[in-house]
This record gives sequence, C-alpha cells and structure tokens, in this order.
Amino acid sequence: MKKIDIVVGARPNYIKAFPVYEALMKTGNYNLRLINTGQHYDNNMSKIFFQQLGMKKPDVDLSVGSGSHAAQTAKIMINIEKEFLTKRPDLLIVFGDVNSTIAAALTATKLNIPIAHIEAGLRSFDRTMPEEINRLLTDQISNFLFTTSPEAENNLLAEGKKKQQIHFVGNTMIDSLVKFEKLFNCSQLLKKRNLTKNEYILVTLHRPSNVDNPTKLKDVANSLNKISERSKIIWPIHPRTWQKLTQYKIYLNEGIYITKPKGYLEFMGLQKHAKFIITDSGGVQEESTYFGIPCFTVRDNTERPITLSKGSNMLVGSDFTKLSNAISEFTNKEKRNKLVPKKWDGKAAERITSIINNKIL
Ligand code: UD1
Ligand code: UDP
Repeated sequence: MKKIDIVVGARPNYIKAFPVYEALMKTGNYNLRLINTGQHYDNNMSKIFFQQLGMKKPDVDLSVGSGSHAAQTAKIMINIEKEFLTKRPDLLIVFGDVNSTIAAALTATKLNIPIAHIEAGLRSFDRTMPEEINRLLTDQISNFLFTTSPEAENNLLAEGKKKQQIHFVGNTMIDSLVKFEKLFNCSQLLKKRNLTKNEYILVTLHRPSNVDNPTKLKDVANSLNKISERSKIIWPIHPRTWQKLTQYKIYLNEGIYITKPKGYLEFMGLQKHAKFIITDSGGVQEESTYFGIPCFTVRDNTERPITLSKGSNMLVGSDFTKLSNAISEFTNKEKRNKLVPKKWDGKAAERITSIINNKIL
C-alpha cells in the first residue's frame, strides 16, 4: 500500500485538510499518516477543529508551538525530517501558505519525496507578507499543484511550472463548508449577547501588517469603535491580536462584543448570519463569497482576486481611518453580490483523490 503523509499545523489547515483526508481514506488504497506540527496549539485554535470536523487524532504531533519565523520553521523541519526518515512517504500533501506548509515541503524535497500542494498558485504579489514567500517557495518545489481558481494556473505557468503539473480542482475549504453547513449554529451566542441575525457585523483581524504595530492597531480600534456606534460588532479575537491589544492597552467600546476565537461550527454560523464582515483573513474572504455576505477586506491586496470579481468581497485598503466611510457608502447602496466561483461545490477533495489515484500513485 502506498504511503501518504498529510501535514497540518494551523487553523486554516485543519479545515482544508479534513475533506482530503476523508476522501483518500474512503478509497482504502493508501496508508495515511496525519502529522500535526502544533504551530497552533490553543484548544480553540486546534483541538476543537479536530473534534468538530470529526477528524481522527493526528498520528504524529510535533508540538513545535510558537516562535520567530526562522525558529518555528526550523523546528518543524528538524522534527518532521525524523518522521520522513523513519517512515518515508510516497507522497507528501501540504495545504495553503503557513510556516508549517513550507517547512514540511522544504524538508521533503531535500529527501526527494514528491509533494502535492493544495491551494497552489494564489499570489498577492506582496512579498512583505510571510504567506506570499511560503506560497511562492512551496509551489516552486511541489510536483503536483492543485488550484482553487483559474488565475492561479496563470501565476504558476508564469513562474515556470508545467501545465501537466497543475490541476484546477476547486476549494477544499468550501468542501468543509458544504459538508457541515447544516450544523452551523450561533443562536446561543447571539441570544447571550442580545444580537439579532443579519444585524451585527462580524470582525476578524490577525495580519501582522494590521495588528502588530501599536499606531496601526489604535487606528483599527478607533475605527471599529466609531462603527460600533451605529451597529453592534462581534469580534472573535485571534491570539496574536489579543496579545497586542493587551500589550498596548487598547480600548474597545462596549458595542464591540469581544470573545476568544470560536470553534468552526459557531464561527461559521456567525459568518452566515452577519450583516456584513470586516476581515483580513484569507479563508473568510472565500467563505463569505460562498454565502454572498458582503465582506470588507482591510488589506491593500488579495491573493484571492476571484472573491472580488465573482464574490461579495471588497478590498478597502489597509487605511482604517477610511473604513467607516467605505462602509457607510456601501450600506447606503445595499449592494449584495452572490456568485459562487466555479468548482466551489463541495467536491474538490473527490477530484484531488481521483487525480492521485489515477495519475500520481
Ligand atoms: C498563522 C499564519 C497565517 C495564518 C494564521 C491563521 C504563518 C507565517 N502565519 O499566523 O498565514 O493566516 O496562522 O490563523 O504561518 N498563538 C497563541 N496560541 C496559538 C497560536 C498562536 O497564543 O494556538 C499566538 C502566539 O503568541 C504566537 C502568535 O499567536 O506567537 C502568532 O502565531 P503564528 O502561528 O506564528 O502566526 P499567526 O499569526 O497565527
Ligand atoms: N475560523 C474559526 N473561528 C474563528 C476564526 C476563524 O473557526 O474564530 C475559521 C474560518 O473558517 C476561517 C478559518 O478559520 O476561514 C481560517 O482562519 P484564519 O483567518 O485564522 O486564517 P487565514 O485563512 O487568514 O489563513
């Protein structure tokens, strides 16, 4: 039986990996090993996703934890190399653009282990983002590239990848959404906070460019405080952001309901029933597009342009002092846009599995 290693480590990885693991397992053709790097480790950033998505416990837990980019990446590489050497896989599968992705891929390529990258070819063309470096490098050393949208193929071809390496399969994050949608539920949370469906704003922010700098984070808080005078806000706060808000002693209005990160089912309920969303998350831009919920992305660029051209996403730039105005203009027009991108249909993992079965292993 051929051996496949699936590597996860951070919150978005779990959601993208679950459907692929499940579809490969169903074939009965492979000896699968699930390796969790432990890049994310809080219960509500990691374990809760395994529980809610019904994913088995990892076969290997590297427990690397947090650190600088170099320290975290190096620690994953040192630990995962031992696993590859002890039990060499015939294929490594990695997801997205986090440090765990590049660390596992770089280790595998030096051992001549073939690599499949899921969510390949996304580009923000902004090399100050750590994720852009992770994406570029992972794609360069991957043998099989599974893409979520047609423009990703053009990016990969322009970087010298071969057409036969690229497979447009759709979006495995949307596979999870489709599978679990019936279970999305935020009613209890809304009731507890006296919030009404379709009347609150959901916020998520965690990009270093938005939250690491105290002046910038103060602008974020001022802007959200102003918006909360008109509409209630719910903000499940990422640990990076939580740490910075505390460190810089930044004040938020009572109209902003802050909470620790939420589990997948509750958070997705919050997305589905939001009036609109303010975010810098990659996954949320995609999920809100599927739901057709207006999404203000507070960044200067996005690696997911299809959510702008087809979906309900709007790039409003990273100047938070302008956010309130952008929102007022938008809500006045009441524009809602809903067009789900091609192949975001819950079947991406099936397509990936069939390609692995027929063409790769
Ligand atoms: C990482 C990814 C980012 C992704 C995000 C998803 C990289 C370079 N960044 O960013 O692309 O969008 O995950 O959420 O891989 N922390 C905790 N508990 C945890 C995890 C983190 O307290 O379980 C705190 C630590 O102080 C840590 C900080 O958050 O230093 C940042 O964590 P890290 O994994 O380095 O980056 P993220 O900001 O989470
Ligand atoms: N998410 C969640 N609870 C939260 C915030 C996010 O379950 O409190 C989910 C949501 O599905 C989102 C995914 O985690 O799309 C990825 O999260 P994140 O924004 O951290 O990462 P990114 O997609 O930006 O890499």
